[in-house]
Amino acid sequence: MNPDQVTRAPVNLGARSYEVAIGPGLLARAGSEIAALKPKARLGIVSDTTVWALHGAALRASLDAAGLPYQAVIVSPGEAAKSWDGLRDVCEALLGFGLERGDLVIAFGGGVIGDLAGFAAGVLKRGIDFVQIPTTLLAQVDSSVGGKTAIDAAGGKNMIGLFHQPILVLADSAVLATLPERERRAGYAEIIKYGLIDDPAFFAWCRENAAAIIAGETSANTAAVMASVQAKARVVVADEREGGARALLNLGHTFAHAYESEAGFDGGLLHGEAVGCGMAQAFLFSARLGLCSAADAAEVRAALDAAGFITAPHRLPGAPYSIDQLIAHMRADKKAEAGRLTLILARGIGAATVVKGVDETALRAFLTEET
Ligand code: NAD
Ligand code: GLY
Repeated sequence: MNPDQVTRAPVNLGARSYEVAIGPGLLARAGSEIAALKPKARLGIVSDTTVWALHGAALRASLDAAGLPYQAVIVSPGEAAKSWDGLRDVCEALLGFGLERGDLVIAFGGGVIGDLAGFAAGVLKRGIDFVQIPTTLLAQVDSSVGGKTAIDAAGGKNMIGLFHQPILVLADSAVLATLPERERRAGYAEIIKYGLIDDPAFFAWCRENAAAIIAGETSANTAAVMASVQAKARVVVADEREGGARALLNLGHTFAHAYESEAGFDGGLLHGEAVGCGMAQAFLFSARLGLCSAADAAEVRAALDAAGFITAPHRLPGAPYSIDQLIAHMRADKKAEAGRLTLILARGIGAATVVKGVDETALRAFLTEET
């Protein structure tokens, strides 16, 4: 691999700073990259059966070449792993490997593995360092950066978690070659999100490059990952623990988490698919409230429709959903304050905004019409 093809984006968080390395062939270099930071560490790898079968041999070869000892715990793919049972199993396995505080956890997979392994690393012996090796587009553009880790609970998605920053992120573009198209589309939702939040030019770029990104063209994917990571790093550096602006990264997510909870976490509705629909709905609701123009909301919906998302909730898997249940999920959202809803809405394309104390009657009427 030509090392010049790797670009590094810094996430400057003082003592918790790290780099996101982006480019082809990083898996083959994982051993040397990790050894440069933690030469004496023993590694506990967390992955899922799909990723391990496809790419485990490459990671193992790289760690062997660097002389790093490792053991792996491999879970079933899917959101269900982000559960109390999943967390217990991973923690017990890592403890069984005899990991000490100076050792290292490796999250090797998509956002599910990153959230689960990152959480386990954060609580194990009160905190062990971890490295993210994201293998989905969604994980490379979003979940591997920023230190949010979580599992789901009966009370909702991502309800139990902590902030635990990785010490390194290795986003290997070549690994994305094995990703199914449906998963690439799910990742595209979190990419176009950055344009919708505060960057209309990037929104336009995403529209032009949607087909190439979803088809898995390497140059489009790598450019999208780089731009997304830089956008996310800017927000995280400004507001690491979501006291303010970081909440904008949740554009459409309160809708999305409610749909996911209603659809069930069985793979019928992927997180990114729910986010695609949720962002369209957030813009339509913004237009309904008079925050943004109907033309902007229509343009956002058209962009997401063209990329292959279902933007009408009544057509999502398992729909129609109960409006009472959707509102109950939204009330349980982490951004709610004193029982009142907070939503990330928009004043226009590239102008996302936090709206507190959302009028629930208006929301109920909107959901009833749309769902
Ligand atoms: P995922 O981790 O379930 O991966 C999707 C599927 O792709 C899985 O079946 C997996 O086995 C497979 N896969 C992974 N890499 C592959 C590869 N290279 N080739 C072939 N198959 C591969 O899903 P995801 O979309 O990556 O992540 C979704 C999760 O991320 C959700 O739980 C969501 O809540 C979370 N998330 C977290 C954050 C955060 O900031 N922490 C941000 C966004 C999303
Ligand atoms: N994915 C939202 C965040 O990291 O804040």
